[in-house]
Amino acid sequence: MIRTCLAIWVLTAFLGTVPGTPQTAAPQPGLASSTQAPATPASIQETNDAFVQKISRQIAGHEQEPAGKVFKNIQNLKTTPAGRLLLIMNRGYSQALGVTCTYCHAEQDFSSDEKRPKRAAREMATMHRSINDQLSKMQNLDPNPQGHFINCSTCHRGAVDPLSSDR
Ligand code: HEC
Ligand code: HEC
Repeated sequence: MIRTCLAIWVLTAFLGTVPGTPQTAAPQPGLASSTQAPATPASIQETNDAFVQKISRQIAGHEQEPAGKVFKNIQNLKTTPAGRLLLIMNRGYSQALGVTCTYCHAEQDFSSDEKRPKRAAREMATMHRSINDQLSKMQNLDPNPQGHFINCSTCHRGAVDPLSSDR
């Protein structure tokens, strides 16, 4: 049962992610001559894909093993296959918030919990799971064979702050 729930959760965390409307940094006039180009959804995705490729090489051959075994500091997604955890991080977490991996992770040590947003993301994962638990118990929803689920992008839709008006 727990296994099934986890599998479903993992599936929705990943599949439910719509390539929403990622937050775009407003082009800054003074930046044109600078070497650092403003972040666009495409450049953010490129950065994230590069991180995923780098880590995928490091765990090569262990993609199907549980993330809790392959990585150092997994608390929620222990039984998720390591390769799938990277997909969730990329297409789930990062895309839902419109950020690069280093918004949550220390670049030199992804297992570190030093960044507040990473710790917040764990609390968010717990909240999102409890909302899904409650949804699954509701009696008066129109039945859906797939069930009723929310995921990170249900609220965030490409923005760090779902409450901000400029998205
Ligand atoms: C919104 C915050 C957030 C973003 C963005 C994010 N992550 Fe994570 N990441 C987490 C959290 C939280 C965990 C711990 C999950 C757990 O405890 O189950 C984690 C764990 C990991 C781990 C395991 C590290 C270890 O050794 O314990 C890897 C690898 C990882 N993420 C890669 C990535 C990559 C690659 C990206 C970008 C494509 C990314 N993450 C983007 C929040 C984030
Ligand atoms: C029910 C709506 C909802 C869902 C679902 C949700 N969030 Fe959030 N999230 C919020 C709200 C609201 C805030 C607080 C925004 C604020 O006031 O700063 C927030 C804040 C955050 C922050 C802190 C950002 C910062 O820098 O302060 C992170 C990180 C985050 N969410 C990640 C996630 C991840 C990852 C998921 C999916 C596992 C998720 N959220 C699912 C509503 C949601």
